[in-house]
Amino acid sequence: MIEINGLVAGYGGLDILRGVDLSVPRGGITCIVGPNGAGKSTVLKAVSGVLRPRAGSVTIDGTDLTGREPEAILRAGIAQVPQRNGLFTRLTVRQNVLMGGYVIRKRRGHLDARYEELAQTFPILASRAGALAGTLSGGQRRMVEFARALMLEPKVVLLDEPTLGLDPASLAVIGDSVRAMHAAGTTILMVEQNVRFGLSLASHATVLTAGTVALHGTASDIACHPRLMDLFFGDAAHAGAGR
Ligand SMILES: Nc1ncnc2c1ncn2[C@@H]1O[C@H](COP(=O)(O)OP(=O)(O)OP(=O)(O)O)[C@@H](O)[C@H]1O
Ligand SMILES: [Mg+2]
Repeated sequence: MIEINGLVAGYGGLDILRGVDLSVPRGGITCIVGPNGAGKSTVLKAVSGVLRPRAGSVTIDGTDLTGREPEAILRAGIAQVPQRNGLFTRLTVRQNVLMGGYVIRKRRGHLDARYEELAQTFPILASRAGALAGTLSGGQRRMVEFARALMLEPKVVLLDEPTLGLDPASLAVIGDSVRAMHAAGTTILMVEQNVRFGLSLASHATVLTAGTVALHGTASDIACHPRLMDLFFGDAAHAGAGR
């Protein structure tokens, strides 16, 4: 569904992604894992248009999206939940979620109906609709961010580290929400620092190290791949030894 070929992207004078190839199958949950700084968030930013790629291509269902503006990419059906600072803390839960639809001004009635629909999956939309987003817990904020991304019924949702900073009890809730989005027909491309959690949720997985794809396959193959631990802790051990 999404095809990434030879993607090169970075910041300032530095290339972070150095030729990334990645295929995101329709109806799957694809999880990118890898050490801190490997470029995982950079891949998602290059797909969502927040960062313009320097070379390579990103297509969805054969349509070239490379270098398009974020709004055009959202219109093409790709919505992103960023790694941090997703919500307007001084706006309510309801205002934050509806904001996800205003981007491509749909009729108000349609937005209200979609809100009610999403409240079936994310009960917090009903129970805390009028609460300021700034008063929610980390896990609750995640739910609101997911719902906002789903307002426009995207084909693909990009999730950057959905469990970041959450306690173990919240992991299960996040896992259930990702499965619910997926069950509703959304293709998912996610980044996850909790490797075990990410791979248990995913159908496909990619291990990214230093801006290149080290491994790609089904999540179950990657989970028991002999090089998996080495790619994480081998690198960490070398980095530690160099200090
Ligand atoms: N806006 C930016 N300006 C300059 N450098 C950046 C910027 N964002 C990220 N980088 C650098 O790009 C590299 C890759 O960052 P990225 O955020 O993609 O890594 P990541 O794999 O998502 O890491 P983490 O697991 O810590 O989230 C890092 O060296 C980082 O310092
Ligand atoms: Mg990141």
